[in-house]
Amino acid sequence: MSSASTDNELATILAGAPPGVLSLAGGFPNPDTFPTGEIAEIVARLMRDDPGVALQYAAPEGIPSVREYMVERQEQQQGARPDLAELMVTSGGMECIALVCHSLLAPGDTVAVEAPTYLGALMAFARAQAEVAPIPMDEHGLDVGAFAERLAGGLRPKVLYVIPEFQNPSGRTLPLDRRRELVELCRGHGVLILEDVAYREIRFEGRPLPSLWALGPDTVLQAGTFSKLLSPGVRLGWAAGPRDVIAQLAAAKQTTDQCAGALGQRIVEEYGRAGLFEHGVPAARELYASHWRALDRALRHHMPDGVSWSRPTGGFFSWLTLPPEMDAMALRTAALEAGVMYVPGSLFYPGEGPRHEARLSFSLLGADDLETAVVRLSTLF
Ligand SMILES: Cc1ncc(COP(=O)(O)O)c(C=O)c1O
Repeated sequence: MSSASTDNELATILAGAPPGVLSLAGGFPNPDTFPTGEIAEIVARLMRDDPGVALQYAAPEGIPSVREYMVERQEQQQGARPDLAELMVTSGGMECIALVCHSLLAPGDTVAVEAPTYLGALMAFARAQAEVAPIPMDEHGLDVGAFAERLAGGLRPKVLYVIPEFQNPSGRTLPLDRRRELVELCRGHGVLILEDVAYREIRFEGRPLPSLWALGPDTVLQAGTFSKLLSPGVRLGWAAGPRDVIAQLAAAKQTTDQCAGALGQRIVEEYGRAGLFEHGVPAARELYASHWRALDRALRHHMPDGVSWSRPTGGFFSWLTLPPEMDAMALRTAALEAGVMYVPGSLFYPGEGPRHEARLSFSLLGADDLETAVVRLSTLF
């Protein structure tokens, strides 16, 4: 699919659903998880006590106290503590991907990606004129054996982009043995892993696995975000990785937005230091878990034989696989007429992807709407 038609598809998804249409398409966080009262209080306090910092420019790496807070949070959440020079503040996870493109990639460099993967990253790598090498996945995420074979066969990626938890779009999670194997493999071949942990903390089952960054801080750059933990409106995330990589990203940031918004930085710091993530994140997990249970129940009741879907243990997405002769791209117009939207799976592949897959997002719709949406889909399939 050309990048212009990908842009059009993306615009349609982001525009939201027309009246009467139930959307399983967009991957937005549920506004019910936004802590509006707490944020209002924090902003009022910042305006009273700290406007000279909260409304001012900041250093490209971030406000020192905010970086300190993020270093502490990284240790608390992931069991490893970066040095200050190994972490910087970004304007969300997407910006970290863009900064990698600006600072580390030249046209023609190879970037390996999971196939399928996050559309925003694919678009960023395409704009950077990188050669994108798709690496297959199975139900446990990236097929590390297949990647090892590609490396042995001469593939020389500068970067491997991977979303180890509740992947967007497939909902799959990379198990521990593959994580260890992958870090060793990339270390041995001098490949920088760009680890995107956008959904890592939205886990509804089981215990967290070590992040790739915690397993290999010398060979992993982690892109983190507060978009799913607090709100995308604060536009805040972090990059944690080798200090020379962070220094290059910070230099690139000087020519993009110069610094992440100081107000968002101070909101996250105040919210976090008050211990409010410890209440907000479990509540968000509970909400998304209940949506997933409702979607899974509806799919089990209504989907015809021959249709299968991934069973995520966190995040926002399940990956629907139709019989091979069906075309989810062609069916989306009929779906819209039937009052339901999804994202055709082929959009998440570099180049031509299979056409019989689709991404279903359960972040926004409540249980009743999810069931109605699935009934509409099932009549179509
Ligand atoms: C896998 C993944 N990475 C990054 C992002 C971008 O998030 P942010 O709002 O932090 O830029 C998203 C947003 O949907 C995502 O799904």
